[in-house]
Amino acid sequence: MILNKNNESKIINGKNYSKDFLIHVSNLAFKFENLLNRKPCLAVILIGDDNASKVYVKNKILTAKDTNIKSIEILLSNNTSEINLLNEINKLNNDDRIDGILVQLPLPDHIQVKKVVNSISPKKDVDGFHPQNFGNLILGNETVVPCTPLGCWYMLKKELNDLTGYHAVVIGRSNIVGKPMQSLLIKENCTVTVAHSKTRGLAEISNKADILIAAIGRPEFITSEFINSNSVIIDVGINRVNKKLVGDVRFQDGLKIAKKITPVPGGVGPMTIACLMYNTVKLAYRRNNQMFNEILL
Ligand code: GUN
Repeated sequence: MILNKNNESKIINGKNYSKDFLIHVSNLAFKFENLLNRKPCLAVILIGDDNASKVYVKNKILTAKDTNIKSIEILLSNNTSEINLLNEINKLNNDDRIDGILVQLPLPDHIQVKKVVNSISPKKDVDGFHPQNFGNLILGNETVVPCTPLGCWYMLKKELNDLTGYHAVVIGRSNIVGKPMQSLLIKENCTVTVAHSKTRGLAEISNKADILIAAIGRPEFITSEFINSNSVIIDVGINRVNKKLVGDVRFQDGLKIAKKITPVPGGVGPMTIACLMYNTVKLAYRRNNQMFNEILL
């Protein structure tokens, strides 16, 4: 589709939002270094050689460097045992120089995600996946918010400001996106519908949305009949089709019909990484009993 002035203004530029946000985060990271004489530090564990995971981890490490955050990368082979991984996490939990721990998902089948998530200290849980942090999110308490939903929330607040009363439809019920997204939107006084692949009449429900969060994990699944002219669409999908990245929304349909839409790439992805940096710096301040003025939520 050819971009012109009319439809270009509909695109929510996640890349630009993330750049602005990372300036704040790096200022906080420099302030931390002045106070503590060391940079905030993020440890990333990557298991196996999934190509997409490798690219995500590389982007996280590069962004950390640009944001004055130290990072440590721990690479484990695909046949690493669960106990070996848990031992690595335990070492990081007990290392006072580490502020945040991220284990890149998905994991090989022989390792239980639940065990791994539960083993990361809630004080170093930059993903916000630990039941203690997740529970606090559902209760509406101050907590560490999972990075992807936090990035979606940030862009919605920038675009719409007050979300009160909007009907938000979240398509997808994963622990990483759908469930935490629901909690954030409820806190913003939205009316929230969580739908998923087994929902009956998905297109009609989706078509009623003022805010549509597409996180179903199927390439270009959301087409014109799911979209109304008043909707703001946040496309969380990252799918590789014929060597090209596409979202869960057929972009040309969204661009033609919706009020606003995030592109893939250049939408949610960069904001997710920026929020990971934010969570790392926030936990670094907290762990070291330094005053942290929340710039979000
Ligand atoms: N894999 C895909 N998204 C994520 C995420 O937000 N955190 C982690 N740890 N792994 C992921």
